[in-house]
Amino acid sequence: MRTTTEVTPAVRTEPTGRPRVAIITGSTRPGRKAGAVARWILDIAARRDDAEFEVVDIADYALPHLDEPMPPRNGRYDRPHTRAWARKIGSADAFVFVTPEYNGSIPGALKDALDFLYAEWNGKAAGLVGYGIQGGTRAVGHLRQVLGDLVVTDVRSAVALTFADDFQDYTRFTPSEPQAGNVTAMLDELIACSDELRKP
Ligand SMILES: Cc1cc2nc3c(=O)[nH]c(=O)nc-3n(C[C@H](O)[C@H](O)[C@H](O)COP(=O)(O)O)c2cc1C
Repeated sequence: MRTTTEVTPAVRTEPTGRPRVAIITGSTRPGRKAGAVARWILDIAARRDDAEFEVVDIADYALPHLDEPMPPRNGRYDRPHTRAWARKIGSADAFVFVTPEYNGSIPGALKDALDFLYAEWNGKAAGLVGYGIQGGTRAVGHLRQVLGDLVVTDVRSAVALTFADDFQDYTRFTPSEPQAGNVTAMLDELIACSDELRKP
């Protein structure tokens, strides 16, 4: 008989420690650009000493459409894939979401990954990176709305990568020169926000 297991409580670093930042790839599509964008964010972030960063690929968790019997706000997760995802997200203090724009919004895989959990997102900070024809700004706008429901504080500075300027032949990721500075500005706000949120 299947039993419902209470979710592992979110593990966080001490408020005085460096925040652990999960850089979350928002696309699971074969041939996706999300991986290259996430690695570029990690390369820039790795030069900092005020936080720890890691890429978290939602594709690694093989999440289906939401299949939990109870609403995530109840904090009781039944499925092994949900528990694995909850452990990973619960161990992060802050997030960078890397999202393409699909039909004016975020990919369904990213929406599902968000919907699976609740407490593990709550009270944490997020920075947003979008890409698309016009920088993925519609996806980023929708993502801000969703994060509000999950009680995630999204910082104002975001990174908008456009196919014309930041992808050679609209395909290969070749970020234009100012974009690294935009990443740093976003990360500066993100770490400051996370430090505030983690104060006792
Ligand atoms: C289903 C789908 C819908 C799309 N809709 C948009 C869109 O609304 N706006 C946009 O700028 N690009 C759109 N695109 C183009 C994607 O931004 C582009 O394919 C991008 O490479 C997707 O990111 P990924 O390669 O990491 O999956 C769409 C692509 C797909 C597959």
